[in-house]
Amino acid sequence: MADLKLTDVAKAYGGVKVLSNINLDIRKGELIVFVGPSGCGKSTLLRMIAGLEKISGGTLEIGGELMNDVPPAQRGIAMVFQSYALYPHMTVRDNMAFALKIAGKSKAEIDTAVARAADILQLTPYLDRLPKALSGGQRQRVAIGRAIVRDPKVYLFDEPLSNLDAALRVATRIEIAQLKEQMPDSTMIYVTHDQVEAMTLASRIVVLAGGGISQVGTPMELYQKPQNEFVAQFIGSPAMNLLPGEIIGTGGMTRVRLDSGLEAVAAIPTRDGDMGLKVNLGVRPEDLRETEGDPLFTGTVDITEALGEVTLLYFEKDEAGRQMVAKLPGIRSGLRHSAVLLTAAPEALHLFHDGVSLLYR
Ligand SMILES: Nc1ncnc2c1ncn2[C@@H]1O[C@H](COP(=O)(O)OP(=O)(O)O)[C@@H](O)[C@H]1O
Ligand SMILES: [Mg+2]
Repeated sequence: MADLKLTDVAKAYGGVKVLSNINLDIRKGELIVFVGPSGCGKSTLLRMIAGLEKISGGTLEIGGELMNDVPPAQRGIAMVFQSYALYPHMTVRDNMAFALKIAGKSKAEIDTAVARAADILQLTPYLDRLPKALSGGQRQRVAIGRAIVRDPKVYLFDEPLSNLDAALRVATRIEIAQLKEQMPDSTMIYVTHDQVEAMTLASRIVVLAGGGISQVGTPMELYQKPQNEFVAQFIGSPAMNLLPGEIIGTGGMTRVRLDSGLEAVAAIPTRDGDMGLKVNLGVRPEDLRETEGDPLFTGTVDITEALGEVTLLYFEKDEAGRQMVAKLPGIRSGLRHSAVLLTAAPEALHLFHDGVSLLYR
């Protein structure tokens, strides 16, 4: 049974539709990540699940019960925000105990819950400190601890790492992954605009865009089989290249003549009727390699970024202002200003018509 079920959920502010047609089943124990560009409605969706925002249309069920009009405190959820919102004058212990005290729990119960949370989060040595004597990462762990002590059915996280610096973000991300492993039955919904966080944490990712769900799938499903150009370009960095062209050969393998005049063969099945179909050929920067044979792209390298293990090649833009990007292994700064011929394996190519992958017709 789904732990959370959203059916045709919609949200409008006044007459302005922010979200519509949200249909989603979340199973017990999943870590679902909502990802999408800023302003796409991630927080709004999370806040509707939390009960902090009214649902304009559709239904939300948690554990099989209709939740639309149930107040936040009775939904069995706990939310962790980007701003840790700790009480500055209370110790770590008291911050974590606060909600339980308000709920009238016994001292023994509170002590047990706080000790368990502190242990899971490695906060035991800090229980008597004030928040100001903690690092940003530790403060965020306390905020998570406040959620854990309540033993909720569902954890909601809204960009919990965005206030942390880059190194701490990676470390805390790994801690959250470990936390999830220690609580395999807890259901978590995690919001981020960062596709790397989504890829590394999620059991399934929900990509939100344009007021709705663009695709739902495991990180590898989204990476390997994006349903549309938006997901193709949102997941993976740098973004997937899209090269316009038309289909000139169909069957198990599809031949495409690109607008550049070059040709490519994609391991994507097409039917006779697809001859002449306008498509965008998708190829990820990391799937491109140099060739001395027939290239699918050739251009002059404008800028290189050597990252150590790989070098990013940014090619001169074409007339339409499109810029091809390739990611080659090793340090290849010497390629700046030179002409490079690139190809990719047929299995690594994607085909889109009207923005939608030919794999999902
Ligand atoms: N209280 C509100 N009144 C009107 N519009 C709002 C309100 N809250 C959010 N919005 C709008 O809803 C959209 C989604 O916002 P939000 O859920 O915060 O996006 P995200 O979390 O993905 O960045 C935005 O366009 C935002 O301007
Ligand atoms: Mg937000």
